[in-house]
Amino acid sequence: MTSDEAAAPGSGTAGKTGPLPFDTSKAHQARMYDYLLGGKDNYAADRVATEAVLNVYPEMAFAARANRAFLGRVIGYLAREAGVRQFLDIGTGIPTAGNTHQVAQAIAPESRVVYVDYDPIVLAHARALLTSSEAGATEYIDADLRDTDTILSQARQLLDFTKPVAVVLLAILHAIPDSDDPHAIVATLMDAVPSGSYLAISHGGSDLLAADTQQGILDAIRQTSQQQYSYRTHAQVARFFAGTDLVEPGLVPVEEWRPDPGNPSGHSPGWGAVGRKR
Ligand SMILES: C[S@@+](CC[C@H](N)C(=O)[O-])C[C@H]1O[C@@H](n2cnc3c(N)ncnc32)[C@H](O)[C@@H]1O
Repeated sequence: MTSDEAAAPGSGTAGKTGPLPFDTSKAHQARMYDYLLGGKDNYAADRVATEAVLNVYPEMAFAARANRAFLGRVIGYLAREAGVRQFLDIGTGIPTAGNTHQVAQAIAPESRVVYVDYDPIVLAHARALLTSSEAGATEYIDADLRDTDTILSQARQLLDFTKPVAVVLLAILHAIPDSDDPHAIVATLMDAVPSGSYLAISHGGSDLLAADTQQGILDAIRQTSQQQYSYRTHAQVARFFAGTDLVEPGLVPVEEWRPDPGNPSGHSPGWGAVGRKR
């Protein structure tokens, strides 16, 4: 599908907070991220907003690539070394190379993956996310992260919550303001999964950016998009991992988390970690 001709997606099983309106006149995170990654599923407003951010912080393009490379390494670690076979990936994004089910099922074909997003553009691509190895399965839930009841009740239809589940929240929690208590949301999700489950997070770091750069990025996003972002400090992101033991090397800039030789090099403003539930 090409960007400006993209068809209006159909309705889904949206959560009580409802899906985002299908308003292409305002930039949105999934499509801005797609543009940063060189994708085609974005609109003029998304490109204008992203260029405004790049104007303030040119490293944002590297940040997107580094986050995506982190996703590949995290899912690879979970499937290969931690032996996880069930994934709840919330904040799926527009499908691109190396989606969670592809990485996991290349290692363990029986892996089961439930995707969750609230952007109608991601829903329009759900079919691409629902391809699975024969042995495994994928499912897509159209819901807001804040609607944990909907997410958990629908995820239970594909995942066995008596066995370990990896809860994957990459580059999404900055879109949840403190007023919606993101720490309580993550705690609710982690309470629902058994000991030995995993939590993976990447999150824009307010202490990884100079104050004026951060303000410039947030202003550019506020002026051009439907969303406001809340970057958080190392300590605030670490709090999400309460009740887990962090896998080495702990909570670090995403590009420093178990890097592979082929990964892009540079400095990103994102904290990332994986924790194992006690
Ligand atoms: C930057 S993309 C990240 C995609 C993927 N997780 C990755 O790291 O490559 C963030 C995604 O989170 C979704 N998102 C943001 N806020 C959300 C919310 N409250 N509920 C569900 N999805 C949300 C956006 O629609 C977007 O698709």
